[in-house]
Amino acid sequence: MALNMDAIGKKIGPIEKDYTWKDVVLYALGVGAGFDELDYVYEKDLKVIPSFSIAAVFEFLSHIGANSNVNLAGLLHGEQDLIFHRPIPTSGKLVSEGAVTKYYDLAAAGKKGAIIVGESVSRDAKGKKLFTAKTTLFGRLDGGFGGEAPPKEVVEYPDRDPDFVVEEHPSKDAPLLYRMSGDVFVLHIDPEFAKMSGFEMPIMHGLCTHGYACRALINSLCPGEPEKVRRLKCRFSKTLYPGIPIAIKIWKTGEGTAVWRVINQENGDVVIDQGVFEYGDVVEEQIRYDGRVAVITGAGAGLGKAYALELAKRGAKVVINDLGGSRDGTGASSSAADAVVDEIKAAGGEAVANYDNVATPEGGANVIKTAVDAFGKVDIVINNAGILRDKSFVKMEPENWNAVLNVHLNGAYNVTKAAFPIMKQNGFGRIVMTTSAAGLYGNFGQTNYSAAKMALVGFMNTLKIEGNKYDIKVNTVAPLAASRLTEDIMPEEIFNKAKPEYVVPMTLYLCTDECDVTGRIYNVGMGFFNRAAVVTGPGAVLGQGDDIPTCDDVKASMANIGSLKDGKEYFELNAQVGDVMMAFQAPPSGGAAAAAGPATPADAFAMLESTFQPDAADGVDVVFQYSISGATGGEWNAVIKDKTCKVSEGKHDKPTTVIIMEDKDFMAMTAGTLNPMQAYTSGKLKIEGDVMKSQLLEKLFKA
Ligand code: NAI
Repeated sequence: MALNMDAIGKKIGPIEKDYTWKDVVLYALGVGAGFDELDYVYEKDLKVIPSFSIAAVFEFLSHIGANSNVNLAGLLHGEQDLIFHRPIPTSGKLVSEGAVTKYYDLAAAGKKGAIIVGESVSRDAKGKKLFTAKTTLFGRLDGGFGGEAPPKEVVEYPDRDPDFVVEEHPSKDAPLLYRMSGDVFVLHIDPEFAKMSGFEMPIMHGLCTHGYACRALINSLCPGEPEKVRRLKCRFSKTLYPGIPIAIKIWKTGEGTAVWRVINQENGDVVIDQGVFEYGDVVEEQIRYDGRVAVITGAGAGLGKAYALELAKRGAKVVINDLGGSRDGTGASSSAADAVVDEIKAAGGEAVANYDNVATPEGGANVIKTAVDAFGKVDIVINNAGILRDKSFVKMEPENWNAVLNVHLNGAYNVTKAAFPIMKQNGFGRIVMTTSAAGLYGNFGQTNYSAAKMALVGFMNTLKIEGNKYDIKVNTVAPLAASRLTEDIMPEEIFNKAKPEYVVPMTLYLCTDECDVTGRIYNVGMGFFNRAAVVTGPGAVLGQGDDIPTCDDVKASMANIGSLKDGKEYFELNAQVGDVMMAFQAPPSGGAAAAAGPATPADAFAMLESTFQPDAADGVDVVFQYSISGATGGEWNAVIKDKTCKVSEGKHDKPTTVIIMEDKDFMAMTAGTLNPMQAYTSGKLKIEGDVMKSQLLEKLFKA
């Protein structure tokens, strides 16, 4: 059996592991902690030995072995590298995800075997990154597959006596206790199995000795502060029998760095080699915007100013646009934008001012021109400028209606219009719209403002699709913050608590390179965050599409029509229209195949051409790609052009519509036992690309 090349990069996990303080203590006891290190074994003021991490994600290690298909008879733990991002909590949940990342072929270095490298990241239940584990397995029986040789990384040991030597004497029963922390491989307990594998008796777990070493390193270099361990790396070089005394030799190599190895005291063997240890305070990962150019409209005050200060602090070059008018949009002054630019510069950041009115096309174009002239490009646009002209609807005159729409909606259009081509060309863009709860939910006296704010959501909905291919992400925030716009609207109690700074983290996250969402709306304020979305109910078919339903039919079905139970969110119009069409349609798979009773998808596709209806294909130019998973699955495509149909196995490079199903569901649908609508709404049938074109299937292929 060869190594599974397809495993490389294939996601493993998330694997979840719940643990309590007892697991932490059990591990500590298994690696030799006792009364001398009460912090590791007593639930009062308990601390976690960082090497507990790898025992806790042992299941992940097994997945690396299983996914890679390594020959288990020759499997050994090669190297372990642990990088700690935060202290490990004394109880909770670990969520680990990763993959097999690389194979090396020792044959390329004139040796035998293969090296399998896997990497995982473990987080707590809230998603905070705790540690990264890079695991290397040595497959003694798996080399010679033509892969590259592993890189030579050699730890240099100083040419002097070690700075610390810690002697330990693991008991001859040590593996019995250690295995309770997860690694129950019989080699460490079963004398018969150990003999069969060529050992005199069960051997120590390499990771148990590793735990002894971790304790020794902490006691020598950062006593009492296991939370300071940043990295623990080593190679398992020789087996060790239980009950043999060991010495952990440690050399300090610099501030917060050391190298180490573990020696078998009886025969002098190096049982763990190439040890690296790093320690010190946690350097919090910080989101940065170095090299990014951000334009913030209305950045002379309130929320825009807070965004600008933080973006600049984190390395972005910023354009501070502000007209400097009053709350209702009248008047103008350069002082608001200038003051923010001065503040950024005084703090060592980079910023330029722009005083244009975003409500005009020239103003919008000039805001972006300022960015390009000063910094060469634009990466981030936060459409934030805003005014208020509240009036009850009866008193809402065109002037106030238009003024508000002009600043909020047309302002966002004018600025984004100038920025979008640049972002498209650069293959990167982050655009944030600013909506409001008044638009999302309604507020007395704000018809103009609500209309403008909700229009921005529609603007986002389509722009996100147009930007998708170019890594341009478009999202929307609905802030709740104290500013001159809200001072007479918000109750005093809320106003005092709602600093604009509370809104900054979400808006700025949506501007990061890492941001992986687009088309989303988030309510943000005072430390509360949630998502708002347009959700569509499953609906009802009245009249089966043949009879026009009557008002009475609608009245009778209002409960069904109005139900949002099992409602869903659509990324685009096609998906929603697809659902509507699906409510009426028959199988997309061509029914003649069903009539003849094909046994597998391959049979069904072999018969598909014979069921083709050329007369129904006048003017049709379409490629259907069928992506069928499962044991009898595969890829097939049907190219329909000039009233002909050609079905081939394999992937077409430009399919119009992709139909994705599992083989069993596909066969059930072909046989008519699975209704396509049900399949679609339950997620068993997925359609990508031009969903509407899937509706042609029924007429193109004879039932
Ligand atoms: P703010 O009044 O403190 O800031 C808005 C800034 O936009 C002002 O500095 C103003 O001079 C500038 N501006 C207005 N018209 C402009 C134009 N035509 N061209 C360039 N700049 C212009 O108000 P705040 O609260 O910071 O509002 C920021 C955004 O957040 C607005 O779009 C507002 O509608 C929205 N919003 C705010 C909420 C809140 O609770 N503060 C609630 C919901 C939405």
